[in-house]
Amino acid sequence: MNVLVVGGGGREHAICEAVSRSSKLDKLYCAPGNAGIAELAECVQITPMEFDKLVGFAKDMHIDLTIVGMDDPLVGGIVDAFEAEGLRVFGPRKAAAILEGSKAFSKDLMKKYGIPTAAYENFDNAEDALKYLETAKFPIVLKADGLALGKGVLICQTKEEAIEGVHSIMEDKKFGDAGNRMVIEEFMTGREVSVLSFVDGKTIKLMSSAQDHKRAGDGDTGLNTGGMGNFSPSPFYTEEVDKFCWDHIYQKTVDAMREEGREFKGVIFFGLMLTEDGPKVLEYNARFGDPEAQVVLPRLKTDMIDVCEAVIDGKLDQIDLEFEDKAAVCVVLASEGYPVSYEKGKEITGLENFKNKDGYYCFHAGSKFDENGKIVTNGGRVLGITAKGDTLKEARKKAYEATEWVSFDNKYMRHDIGKAIDEA
Ligand code: AMP
Ligand code: GLY
Repeated sequence: MNVLVVGGGGREHAICEAVSRSSKLDKLYCAPGNAGIAELAECVQITPMEFDKLVGFAKDMHIDLTIVGMDDPLVGGIVDAFEAEGLRVFGPRKAAAILEGSKAFSKDLMKKYGIPTAAYENFDNAEDALKYLETAKFPIVLKADGLALGKGVLICQTKEEAIEGVHSIMEDKKFGDAGNRMVIEEFMTGREVSVLSFVDGKTIKLMSSAQDHKRAGDGDTGLNTGGMGNFSPSPFYTEEVDKFCWDHIYQKTVDAMREEGREFKGVIFFGLMLTEDGPKVLEYNARFGDPEAQVVLPRLKTDMIDVCEAVIDGKLDQIDLEFEDKAAVCVVLASEGYPVSYEKGKEITGLENFKNKDGYYCFHAGSKFDENGKIVTNGGRVLGITAKGDTLKEARKKAYEATEWVSFDNKYMRHDIGKAIDEA
């Protein structure tokens, strides 16, 4: 089969790696891809929002399956555009991707179907939001409704901060149109766990739990980022938590979407908080997490193409979804200054050290070939260094060892990814 992956980050590199292990694969393409993905796939210079060009390419090149990694094209309706031309594509349609695309929608869905989440109100104008703050409890959480590169959430300690937050989201449009509506919700405390799942509209099968590290600095300090590293599985995702989530969250979400006429096919990423009152949903994503995909997909034993096809055909119940009984840790190597400002174009050396190293992966998040054919940095997050191990501790040790194998100017990483493992 000919397969096209849409996206060009560490997540798409991990998807390409999983697809490249499929016995069904003839030729793999990735649009736009990056310098690491180029080892596995032919990279095509079309950006993920150019739906017409992507559809045209898929028809010309007889693509049998397209897998969409990123949120923007999914929320924008890329799946509908492919399906309208009779092409097979993995991911939720626009009507279902709204689960991630609108926080107000997802909160209303959870309320309507009794799925545990933080108490909240939705607002479509600043005046009402400000009035609500008069009698609210602090700290409080403000969320821009739409996609905001993972940055649209403000945790406000005081009323003054929250007032400023409402102005910046709804009036100054700090997150653009994402802030046309907003959610104000109760501040919760507890450990966070991410759970990735495949969903075929009816059946849901879990991949694995993982724990992200969103802040830029050690000890969870500094600004929120797309993710600085993670580990999987999470030792805090116990059998008890799993049972609760099956009873109250997973199947209920899938059934709720179908009930609403928004059948969901693809990946649902559940962002959970384990509160004193039990697990609650912080957010849904309609795609693989990044870097979550980089610790989960390397352990997938089932043929990735078979899984994607079963999702598209509504036959996930017939798939035996298997993962290696191993742990994995990913440490992101970023450019100093991420997520605010950073330099690009720095040569990356040492990549050959990952050749033929079983259980080690160097996923490229932001890299490209320069005019001389050298691989250089091309983003805030540059590489995701993943290692597998029999235990989380072993995986963490190996991942940190492997971070030393590559170099580039201004290389920056957190040194405490997986510190929570010691507390488990
Ligand atoms: P989200 O994009 O909704 O996952 O929010 C980003 C981050 O903000 C989460 O990973 C949490 O760390 C934090 N957060 C979001 N909602 C809440 C909440 N209701 N209470 C406490 N922290 C939250
Ligand atoms: N790592 C968090 C996300 O992909 O949304």
